[in-house]
Amino acid sequence: MLAHLRNISKRALPRRLVTQSASYSSSSSFLIDQPEYSFLKELGLERDNPGVYSGQWQGRGPSVTSYDPGTGRPIAKVRQGNVQELEQTIGLALEAYKQWRQVPAPVRGEIVRQIGDELRKYKEPLGKLVSLEVGKIYSEGQGEVQEFIDICDYAVGLSRIYSGQLINSERADHSILEAWRPLGVVGVISAYNFPNAVFGWNAAIALTTGNSVLWKGAPSTPLVSVATTKIVADVLRRNNLPPVVTLCQGGTDVGQTLVADKRVNLVSFTGSCQTGRDVGVEVQRRFGKVILELGGNNALIIDESANVKMALDAALFGCIGTSGQRCTTTRRIIVHEKLHDQFVKALVGKYQQLIPKIGHQLEAQTLVGPVHTQQNVENYKAAIAEAKSLGGAVAFGGNVIQRDGFYVEPTVITGLPHDASVVHRETFAPIVYILKAKNVDQAIEWNNEVEQGLSSAIFTENIGQAFKWIGAKGSDCGIVNINTTTNGAEIGGAFGGEKATGGGRESGSDAWKQYCKRATITVNHSGELACAQGVVFNVE
Ligand code: UN1
Repeated sequence: MLAHLRNISKRALPRRLVTQSASYSSSSSFLIDQPEYSFLKELGLERDNPGVYSGQWQGRGPSVTSYDPGTGRPIAKVRQGNVQELEQTIGLALEAYKQWRQVPAPVRGEIVRQIGDELRKYKEPLGKLVSLEVGKIYSEGQGEVQEFIDICDYAVGLSRIYSGQLINSERADHSILEAWRPLGVVGVISAYNFPNAVFGWNAAIALTTGNSVLWKGAPSTPLVSVATTKIVADVLRRNNLPPVVTLCQGGTDVGQTLVADKRVNLVSFTGSCQTGRDVGVEVQRRFGKVILELGGNNALIIDESANVKMALDAALFGCIGTSGQRCTTTRRIIVHEKLHDQFVKALVGKYQQLIPKIGHQLEAQTLVGPVHTQQNVENYKAAIAEAKSLGGAVAFGGNVIQRDGFYVEPTVITGLPHDASVVHRETFAPIVYILKAKNVDQAIEWNNEVEQGLSSAIFTENIGQAFKWIGAKGSDCGIVNINTTTNGAEIGGAFGGEKATGGGRESGSDAWKQYCKRATITVNHSGELACAQGVVFNVE
């Protein structure tokens, strides 16, 4: 079985996607120049693209080549910004904000509605680009753009209903109001795994609440950043608006400058816990605001009473969807001891059925695409080696697949202690550790013992266990699901997590408040000055 998996050769790849490495150096080997990839041109992309937008396009920093992780072939290039361009862009974003904050919120919502409509028009090619550049399968690329469209719809409604309140004052003929005002410039630093949607969740809400947005996308997914910004910029241009959305692709120097600049009032950062900690400290140093969306180590708990069929499907999508590269990917399955062996066997059976569905991310039958880069492959290998050295048993997978691109076998590991170092580490790859627990109490304890606190789910038909799980003694994560997956959250709820996940919330619910400053306004309409708490302080 595993040998078969390892032997998936170039022959299994569609002919048009197979390439000879010798041709990589020729400029004509850029995918954008090939007729099958004409959808990239529909998005306004070229072989060489400027990666900075601040009302006009430029890019004087280093050029990066974007690769298709499914073949290793170059797609096109982007000229990133340098630090000076970033600084200029922040200045322009600030000027744009000063105009934008005066636009009534429902009118801002109308602009966001137009962005959503424009995304609907480009959903197919943009989603395909997301798939091509990240490595996620076709439906996931389309789904990602759908998340951006959904949050635009949400934001349009929000623009007419977000509001403050009127609070009772203890003083006669006084009223206390609460109002929510924009912050200014919101910096969005997004990760490669959701190169479109994470920008969307932030931008739709930040724009609606009156901020301007400055985006730096991941260096390895620059084409999605450029194509998405072109769609948004076109809407702004048609409405004669200043650049309330700006882009500066760049490396670490650009990222660090953005984080340290006082003119960026809020930094919304998605990425690793390690970098997120530095971002958080740096922004705090200048009393800026942050939204941190960092790593997860998400557990799926299978209670004795679980609907096992449903739990198996949830495990499959949770562990292998997006080739294990969502922050919300299921990394640990904690199974009741009575079900453990049968669950492992059934899950391995499901994994086996996925073998013919491993392939290039844009092929129709593919369910498991590549991982994003060679670094993900290295991290995968290191995690498997560590798991084995700690006594873990590979129940399925465990190997790198030898073919062009970055492919690894989806992997199931059993028999490790719940607190093994590798189990407590987030490895962005399709590896799941199955742990055997005595009962739900123990499973909750293990769920909560990791550093991160993003997503979690229990499968149970027992109402008592379900309510324990969502109660104060239950899961300590930001996402606490029952009978559904750890990944694939909808935009309506607030998205984010606790502890080393950073505590930020994006998307729906009242996450919009994070993009605002709150004004508490006491109005005295009595005609006389009165101090609160009955304090007397005057002279005749
Ligand atoms: C992420 O992995 O950074 O819940 C975000 C999900 C998606 C978002 C994931 N809606 O899996």
